[in-house]
Amino acid sequence: MRMRNKYRKPTTLHCNAGTRCSMSIVVWSLVGFLLMLHLYTLISHTNVQSKEIRSGLSHHPLFRELEEVEEENIQMPPPRRRSPRAAKRKPKRPTTLIDEFLDESSQLRHIFFPTIKTAVDPTKDAGNDSFYYYPGRIWLDTEGNPIQAHGGGILYDEKSKTYYWYGEYKDGPTYHAHKKGAARVDVIGVGCYSSKDLWTWKNEGIVLPAEENNETHDLHKSNVLERPKVIYNDKTRKYVMWMHIDDANYTKASVGIAVSDSPTGPFDYLYSKRPHGFDSRDMTIFKDNDGVAYLVYSSDDNSELHIGPLDGDYLDVTNVVRRILVGQHREAPALFKHGGTYYMITSGCTGWAPNEALAHAAESIMGPWETMGNPCIGGNKVYRLTTFFAQSTFVLPLPGLPGSFIFMADRWNPADLRDSRYVWLPLMVGGAADQPLDYSFGFPLWSRVSIYWHKRWRLPAELSGKKI
Ligand code: GAL
Repeated sequence: MRMRNKYRKPTTLHCNAGTRCSMSIVVWSLVGFLLMLHLYTLISHTNVQSKEIRSGLSHHPLFRELEEVEEENIQMPPPRRRSPRAAKRKPKRPTTLIDEFLDESSQLRHIFFPTIKTAVDPTKDAGNDSFYYYPGRIWLDTEGNPIQAHGGGILYDEKSKTYYWYGEYKDGPTYHAHKKGAARVDVIGVGCYSSKDLWTWKNEGIVLPAEENNETHDLHKSNVLERPKVIYNDKTRKYVMWMHIDDANYTKASVGIAVSDSPTGPFDYLYSKRPHGFDSRDMTIFKDNDGVAYLVYSSDDNSELHIGPLDGDYLDVTNVVRRILVGQHREAPALFKHGGTYYMITSGCTGWAPNEALAHAAESIMGPWETMGNPCIGGNKVYRLTTFFAQSTFVLPLPGLPGSFIFMADRWNPADLRDSRYVWLPLMVGGAADQPLDYSFGFPLWSRVSIYWHKRWRLPAELSGKKI
């Protein structure tokens, strides 16, 4: 006996080992069962999602057009002449498209900031061009003036069946308050535009104006008011605006809250605060289907985001807050929901200069949030690495078209901020996510987020050309 035992391998898979053997069978069966279950959940979830998307889109053949991958081939201008001495001192590295974008005197300027001649103009009979978006072109309102709604967001007002676009009204001179400080425009206020078709925008005026005289007021023109967003509170029947409030050096790092009985204002400014006691810069608010609204803000010197529910009247945060995307240095958050999953687009932190967008997803809005990768498709590599030379600000769901959204971004013009442009592009949720998970075991339960570059595009005929 002893001799035989001496040469037996001590493996738990050996069947002569009685209880040990049955234990291992149980354990392995359990693992197999769990894997099967996980696979089944994944497949059924993907099926439900793709069915949802298919059912939403199959009736809209134009959506295939929106998902077409459009390339951009931009010819770089020949290098500028330099004196032989300068060339010897510092050999010039090849110029990149980003250098050209940031260079005010670049020969390619017209590509990023086309002149007024090509403006999108709803006051003229645009013929075949009606309802077409041209990302980056000047966009005129119904009075023929360039729309001033930067860092903005859109509220759909159920009562008036109208879209309201709120944003920074920046129609003033750009200057530097400090030598090394960011380019700025004095606060003028929050602009508001209304539309039934998301293309023709009527100026509803400045619904929250700057304070001209009182220097201690948050809204004094020498301060900073950015990224205003408005949601409607069904209980109090008030329109509530949240915004980033700061001083010219961006050290106040607070949120401001204003309220109105009407979507077109005037909004009463209530107060500012550091939410949950933390510094808060780029921010957004999001109202969920159950009526609970959330504030998302870049914090800890923009190194992470914080998310927390607002109280019942949306006039303050509660004491619940979670740190998300910790250490990822993200800003310009734009949150949306599809098929029970929460998604968010963010930018990196490079001031007015464009950088790479990332998409994130979460099963619960309070996290954990997973980073899925760059959602930008088409254009060219530089376009994709710079969010098409723009920065996220809002994602607008298209009613009746599940899985389809408008991605709204700002193409900032730091030399003349009032002339910053809007980059609106189709955003789709569908297909397998292409990045492994950070926090949980297994495959992601959510789909890919894709933002498609288009020089010229419009919504499906069911939406554009008709009052929505
Ligand atoms: C960006 C931010 C903008 C504005 C800008 C100032 O990072 O997203 O909203 O604050 O910096 O440089």
